[in-house]
Amino acid sequence: MTVSFEGRVAAITGAGGGLGRSYALELAKRGAKVVVNDLGGDEFGGGGSNHMANAVVDEIRSAGGEAVANFGDISKYETGTSMVEAAISNWGRLDVLICNAGILRDVSFAKMTEEDWDIIFAVHVKGMFNACHNAWPHMREQKYGRIMLTSSTSGTWGNFGQTNYGAAKTAMLGFMNSLKQEGEKYNIHVNALTPAAGTRLTATVLPDEWLDKAKPEFVTPLVTYLVSENCPDNGSIYHAGMGRYHRTALMRGPVTEVDTDEVKTAEWMEDNWDQISSLDGAEAMWNGRVTQAEYDAQNK
Ligand SMILES: NC(=O)c1ccc[n+]([C@@H]2O[C@H](COP(=O)([O-])OP(=O)(O)OC[C@H]3O[C@@H](n4cnc5c(N)ncnc54)[C@H](O)[C@@H]3O)[C@@H](O)[C@H]2O)c1
Repeated sequence: MTVSFEGRVAAITGAGGGLGRSYALELAKRGAKVVVNDLGGDEFGGGGSNHMANAVVDEIRSAGGEAVANFGDISKYETGTSMVEAAISNWGRLDVLICNAGILRDVSFAKMTEEDWDIIFAVHVKGMFNACHNAWPHMREQKYGRIMLTSSTSGTWGNFGQTNYGAAKTAMLGFMNSLKQEGEKYNIHVNALTPAAGTRLTATVLPDEWLDKAKPEFVTPLVTYLVSENCPDNGSIYHAGMGRYHRTALMRGPVTEVDTDEVKTAEWMEDNWDQISSLDGAEAMWNGRVTQAEYDAQNK
């Protein structure tokens, strides 16, 4: 089926460059009206200018699309407010929110400063809250919303020198796991992405030959589908980059059930560790009680 955004309004944080710019251009090409938020700073959280957001708005308009710029730091609550207000005042609704703005402060934990920790949580986690908290009442009222949070394989698997960034990116998944449950009855879906692309952010850590090949445009089709009306997922994590696409999930291994009349010992745990630690037949979960398969069978 055609994936269309005719009549839809999208807001994308950090859309002045890299992945966010590519999403903005593609959604606009498919009919979405787009609020392009960007601080226009550097990849470590310094500086700021209107240039990046304005340039993407110009690109969209010159291709015949509709877009407005929203400047400012998404770690400030008022930027989330002004970004959502830009969507509502210009087009009366907000259907798609992509939390994409991001920076890096890579450093080994031994050398990390409190500021390296705080700024990463401010941009990625508080920035996500600021965008979603302002968008939520509108999406609830219109009974429709598609939110995509940008996590990272540093959050799902970890990466040397990224305890701050990895922890923030995992926090975004914890946020998704609860918000997906609150949004379900309002037809608001919340999903997450772990992208891999050559951008100015990855240029700080990866070799040129990889950067040249890993175009953001490889990631964009998956994101476009994920934030569309066509996609049924709510609470999923997908990976996309350089020709590789897969789902990632926190899984629960098979449950070992014991008689609760008697408390087991640590020695009993050791004796049964192979069974308790097994991931054979692990299942994705909808919440702490219900597997995804059970939930889907009841609700879809
Ligand atoms: N490129 C990858 O391989 C990769 C991998 C994993 C996760 N990510 C995540 O993807 C997202 C996009 O990254 P990218 O690779 O396109 O990098 P990028 O630096 O090209 O783009 C990030 C954009 O966010 C903007 N931004 C930064 N801080 C902001 C703030 N406080 N408020 C508003 N805008 C802000 C920047 O100006 C920039 O335009 C980030 O969240 C990043 O952590 C990227």
